[in-house]
Amino acid sequence: MVTRADIGVIGGSGFYSLLDDAEEVEVTTPYGPPSDPVTVGRIGSRTVAFVPRHGRDHRHPPHRIPYRANLWALRSLGVRQVLAPSAVGSLRVEYGPGTLVIPDQLVDRTSGRVHTYYDEGGAVHVPFADPYCPVGRALAHTTASAEGWEAVDGGTLVVIEGPRFSSRAESRWFSSNGWSIIGMTGYPEAALARELALCYTTLALVTDHDAGVEAGEGVTQEEVFAFFAANSERMRTLVATVAESLPLDRACPCPTALNGIKLPFALP
Ligand code: ADE
Repeated sequence: MVTRADIGVIGGSGFYSLLDDAEEVEVTTPYGPPSDPVTVGRIGSRTVAFVPRHGRDHRHPPHRIPYRANLWALRSLGVRQVLAPSAVGSLRVEYGPGTLVIPDQLVDRTSGRVHTYYDEGGAVHVPFADPYCPVGRALAHTTASAEGWEAVDGGTLVVIEGPRFSSRAESRWFSSNGWSIIGMTGYPEAALARELALCYTTLALVTDHDAGVEAGEGVTQEEVFAFFAANSERMRTLVATVAESLPLDRACPCPTALNGIKLPFALP
């Protein structure tokens, strides 16, 4: 039988332990292999496909993650809804470490990343006014609140190229624009998901105050990794609950992202 999955999760390596009856699937894509083989297993009644964003040994830095292959691999397994937990810095004093933000907007400050599937064969312009799935977002927020998280519904995630953190001046500029959180992996992941007409929901765990925030003394990799690891159990529980309760029939605009567009190739 061909392996299929209902929901995709792109996240930290800790998520393997979420899956019952897990099997590793080698998926080949026109964009090379995903970050690591996809693991498909069950969470309750759902089949979930998991890709460790940075690889299981964290070998892919944010600017070298095979974003296209990861999302293509998920879609080719039948996934149409993707949950994307990630670590972010806070650009607001009031969002301390441990806050969970479900962003509704994104600003791309990356440079030089491959950020589209539609490089040749004709123009494909997908809508991106609202980068995230409204149904996934609402469910992630209510579930997180019910599980006791300090959860924020909405906000703008600015994605920087990295791999370095921001200077204080950059960080102050981001905050002064009204942007609320900062990360390195949210783009092009969100845009590529939209290009494949997938639902995509980011669950952003604040691990630190970024350098320009009053309380921010400047952030270190050690601090970010340690905080994320300390909260990974909670995050896994949250992602599992959302994955189990996401409605599979999609009543959101995401499936129509490619309507009326002539694609240069068939999607998997
Ligand atoms: N990921 C976690 N914290 C971050 C920060 N302060 N800047 C960019 N990416 C991050």
